[in-house]
Amino acid sequence: MYKIGRNDPCWCGRGAKYKNCHLAFDQKLENYAIMGVEVPERNMIKLPDQIEGIRHAGVINNQILDLVDEFIKPGISTEDINTLVHENTIRLGGIPAPLNFEGYPKSVCTSINEVVCHGIPDSGRILQEGDIINVDVTSIVNGYYADASRMYCVGKVSPEAEKLVRVAKESLELGLKEARAWSHLGNVGAAISEHVYANGYTVVREIGGHGVGLDFHEEPWVSHIGTRGTDMLLVPGMIFTIEPMINAGNADVIHDEEDGWTVSTKDGSLSAQWEYTILITEDGPEVLAR
Ligand code: MF3
Ligand code: CO
Ligand code: CO
Repeated sequence: MYKIGRNDPCWCGRGAKYKNCHLAFDQKLENYAIMGVEVPERNMIKLPDQIEGIRHAGVINNQILDLVDEFIKPGISTEDINTLVHENTIRLGGIPAPLNFEGYPKSVCTSINEVVCHGIPDSGRILQEGDIINVDVTSIVNGYYADASRMYCVGKVSPEAEKLVRVAKESLELGLKEARAWSHLGNVGAAISEHVYANGYTVVREIGGHGVGLDFHEEPWVSHIGTRGTDMLLVPGMIFTIEPMINAGNADVIHDEEDGWTVSTKDGSLSAQWEYTILITEDGPEVLAR
């Protein structure tokens, strides 16, 4: 790659000369890199038009999850949730990203109780009072992706289940607060895991958040455990998910060999997860999808 000249148009496409645009930004990153800090590649920094597109995909994705909020009740099947998400995504001008993604057969993930993530909707699985369920929606709108998930308590659930769902949400919010420009990705995982451990729960290690926006899963990989001051530098324009999976028992998970997708806790304990798509800005994180 050739170095851009000071008077050449900036790589960001805004049309300004490089010296008046991203030159200082690039030099700042280079200085961090020289100090041994892991800095994001340029392809992890979204351009203004891309941010606009991903923000819009987030609006649509939020609308779909708002419909799920009103739909969840005892007696419906997870296939009914799939139909709701599929039809409304199309109606709102989007495409459900999960459908046919690496062979995934449905338009949404529905993960109940001990299922950690990637549960497959099924007309035979009826929601029962006392279940907790994660519904994970990813929409593609005009080619841009937004990814978020929420937990639902079906009817009245046990105090233990309710607390797990609450602590999982709190851990995401604490991680979010750490997602500040010029901080480190390790701070996010540290904040999440500290809160989870303080409540006697565990954090799933094998599955993390991810860059998102131009594709379903992009760099960086986002760990939900971490050490402050380590891991990648957070830079304005980065868009990624934070999606901690929290187990009531052991952190270990098992993968269903038969369906190829469902991830469950190894010990059968309950698991809860919430997911946001976020944008790093100079003024703090902006939640694009929740
Ligand atoms: N939405 C999930 C995530 O948060 C990924 C689901 S992949 C699928 O990354 F194929 F199962 F949909
Ligand atoms: Co995700
Ligand atoms: Co998701």
